[in-house]
Amino acid sequence: MKILVTGGAGYIGSHTCLALLNEGYEVVIVDNLCNSSIESIKRIEILANQSVIFYNADVRDMVSLENVFHENSIEAVIHFAGLKSVNESINIPINYYENNVGSSIALFNIMSKFNCKILVFSSSATVYGDTAMSPIKEGSQLSANNPYGRSKLMIEEILQDLYVSDDTWHIGRLRYFNPVGAHKSGMIGEDPNGIPNNLFPYISQVAVGRRKKVNIFGGDYDTHDGTGVRDYIHVMDIADGHIKALEALNIKSQLLTINLGTGNGYSVLDVIKAFESASGLKIPYKIVGRREGDIASCYADTALASSSINWNASYNLESMCKDAWKWQTLNPNGYQKIG
Ligand code: NAD
Ligand code: WQD
Repeated sequence: MKILVTGGAGYIGSHTCLALLNEGYEVVIVDNLCNSSIESIKRIEILANQSVIFYNADVRDMVSLENVFHENSIEAVIHFAGLKSVNESINIPINYYENNVGSSIALFNIMSKFNCKILVFSSSATVYGDTAMSPIKEGSQLSANNPYGRSKLMIEEILQDLYVSDDTWHIGRLRYFNPVGAHKSGMIGEDPNGIPNNLFPYISQVAVGRRKKVNIFGGDYDTHDGTGVRDYIHVMDIADGHIKALEALNIKSQLLTINLGTGNGYSVLDVIKAFESASGLKIPYKIVGRREGDIASCYADTALASSSINWNASYNLESMCKDAWKWQTLNPNGYQKIG
């Protein structure tokens, strides 16, 4: 089965492409490399010992996209392409709506034209906003408090409308919690530009000596140790969730909306401790003020993922730290400096 993976050179996309190839799927990637490197694709090919078809193109470019569908018999699409920084989305909201919503509309149009109706979309736990009570069920009320989150909500709604208008579509809306870690080889991983916003890459860069200490945003939350609690999930579990979703969607048309999380909440201090034990290093940190927009606790109810697509997360926090650390030590500067 030939799968188009938009954003396949990126962090989650690259791990999912590798998992797809290992499961025997054929992979076509469309990525404009605005937040990734061609090096990740080369490494996927080495790890899988197979090649992928790569188009360096913007998903909003309908002429290129149409060409991809003309040249390949695409049977299903996994749509990762998009911009993902909450902070950046507040400063340049139009770019976020244009890229995330615009690319999705272009893609869904071309898919309709080619009668390709199996789609898995990267949504996010961010669509639950700041009021949902953890463990969060898929039926919880939705809201978003930044342009990035609103762009994800808009695309979810577009997909709902699309399915209502034509129930022969097979649509998966996967809401990831906090994807972290890397493939166990340490050859592919997360490679953020500039100063990382997210906790895991920040801790990794402190451990490897690129940054001095972790600033912990808030020590006075109503959690077991006062620091924020999240549902960190190994990126290879996320990749596997896409394969399970594809399998379920392939069987019947439906609109599937599911959380991809472990169901466990860990605090910032828990993560730092686990990372110290994985790396054997002391991670310096300082508790500073809360970060605007953060909430105390956010973790998934995973029952629906388990019952509907037979998927359960299998990696624990220790493996997430171990694999993130291996990627960081083998690639202290990400993909950038290696030929
Ligand atoms: P990423 O930035 O590493 O990957 C996204 C990829 O899409 C990049 O390779 C980028 O170059 C590409 N891209 C962006 N806009 C494009 C466009 N218009 N045309 C073609 N390519 C384009 O991000 P990621 O962490 O791998 O996230 C993948 C998806 O999952 C995103 O949609 C993101 O919003 C969503 N998501 C991520 C997280 C997370 O914490 N990483 C959590 C929830 C949801
Ligand atoms: C985790 C915890 C921080 C950095 C974000 C997006 C969300 C989704 C996943 C895309 C929080 C604390 C962090 C640091 C810290 N992405 N922290 N010091 O905010 O849960 O989710 O990524 O869809 O939409 O908002 O993840 O890794 O930024 O933060 O103390 O330097 O670590 O306060 O408690 P978050 P995160």
